[in-house]
Amino acid sequence: MAAVPEFPARCVIWFGRPLANERAALAAAGWQVRGVAPEQCASIGMRGSDQIVGLLDLRDGVPAQLAPLQQLLVEHRHMSLLAIVPSTGLPPSPALDALLEACVATYRAPVDMPHLVLRLQELADGDGDGARSGPGPQALIGDSAVLQVTRAALRKFAPVELPVLITGETGTGKELAAQALHALSPRHAHPFMAVNCGAIPAALVQSELFGHERGAFTGAAARRLGLFETANGGTVLLDEIGDLPLDAQTSLLRVLQEGTVERVGSNRPLAVDVRVLAATHVDLETAVEQGRFRRDLFYRLNVLRLPLPPLRERGSDIVLLARHFLDSFRHRHATRARGFSADALRALERFHWPGNVRELLNRVQRAAIVAETELISATDLELGQPLLPTAHRGLHDARQVAERETLLHALRQSDFNISACARTMQVSRVTIYRLCRKHQLALPELR
Ligand SMILES: Nc1ncnc2c1ncn2[C@@H]1O[C@H](COP(=O)(O)OP(=O)(O)OP(=O)(O)O)[C@@H](O)[C@H]1O
Ligand SMILES: [Mg+2]
Repeated sequence: MAAVPEFPARCVIWFGRPLANERAALAAAGWQVRGVAPEQCASIGMRGSDQIVGLLDLRDGVPAQLAPLQQLLVEHRHMSLLAIVPSTGLPPSPALDALLEACVATYRAPVDMPHLVLRLQELADGDGDGARSGPGPQALIGDSAVLQVTRAALRKFAPVELPVLITGETGTGKELAAQALHALSPRHAHPFMAVNCGAIPAALVQSELFGHERGAFTGAAARRLGLFETANGGTVLLDEIGDLPLDAQTSLLRVLQEGTVERVGSNRPLAVDVRVLAATHVDLETAVEQGRFRRDLFYRLNVLRLPLPPLRERGSDIVLLARHFLDSFRHRHATRARGFSADALRALERFHWPGNVRELLNRVQRAAIVAETELISATDLELGQPLLPTAHRGLHDARQVAERETLLHALRQSDFNISACARTMQVSRVTIYRLCRKHQLALPELR
């Protein structure tokens, strides 16, 4: 038998051949990549504590033998599996279908690497624990009354074959909720595919979502299936739906009304059976009023609405989530931190969390790394200054503090890139410069 290779603690086992740019993107995000022929997977050695994600690459065809892979999944229940399927679709195979059902996510070639990297990060953060068939509503941690309302709605909406409009500020768990809707639906054995409408260049959106025929436009060398055809039988999450260009909105309306798509370069409608979930952090009603979003499409999408509450309204969930994120970090990394000091707990509860749960996760992880003692302090969480106004301060002061914090947060999130920061805050670049001056934030020093 071949020698058992040792894998580092954070590794993607790529069953197939990763492209150079894919390797590079994973390496940049701190993942080791091991290319392995699928039939050789029986010789893979894993430690129970390792973070290992399998990636089944089907772009070069379906492996002749799938049994070794199935066996591997049974033996290593802690290993999540992702899949890449070719844009031209796959030949029918019950064995392959069973394997794809076990995948936590399916990507269509060419792979959206930023999304894949994000997903890996989330799996590594423990969000994918036991999530082979996708997270259920229990993945949304929290006991607050508002979250219980969300969870109850999620359970009710999951089995209904209607679109769901998931709303909420950035980082409130919209994608997690969409995955839970899919996992609880009769479609759970079929693909769940998410696409960020704002991340695709406008000219490519139609082809990305609905496919194209060979020769449909310059560069369309071969027929390509769109997201809707690839996800047939399953669920599509259209993230940042407010960014969908108007022509693609018309095509989406056809999917919802008639259940058909037309590939770019073809007039032939093709039947697709896909449930549409849409997510947005902007107010779609305003976009409708401004003529940027079709009113009829809005009504179609807005039948079932799932609002994710901002973290600041979830009360004791903040501390619950913080402890959860710290515990799951401690399982994977050596850290002194065992809990939170009283001032840290107070700061957690008083902060207004513009980046919501994602921001909390990031702050806790960073604090766990920098903490010098067993108890994480407010300073470790970078919540050292009084961030929320105390009662004796006026509303004006409160607004100033919130504005400064939001600006600082957006600047950090965008690596101090003014254009990116302006997009996040939905203001002009000039406003960002003005706000920096107003709040005495010296950009060169901060950078
Ligand atoms: N209630 C929750 N319990 C546990 N983890 C959560 C919860 N809500 C969100 N998360 C985690 O927070 C991070 C952000 O969640 P998610 O990506 O679903 O948010 P989002 O609303 O889609 O954000 P964006 O608007 O930026 O796309 C993820 O790592 C997710 O697993
Ligand atoms: Mg999202």
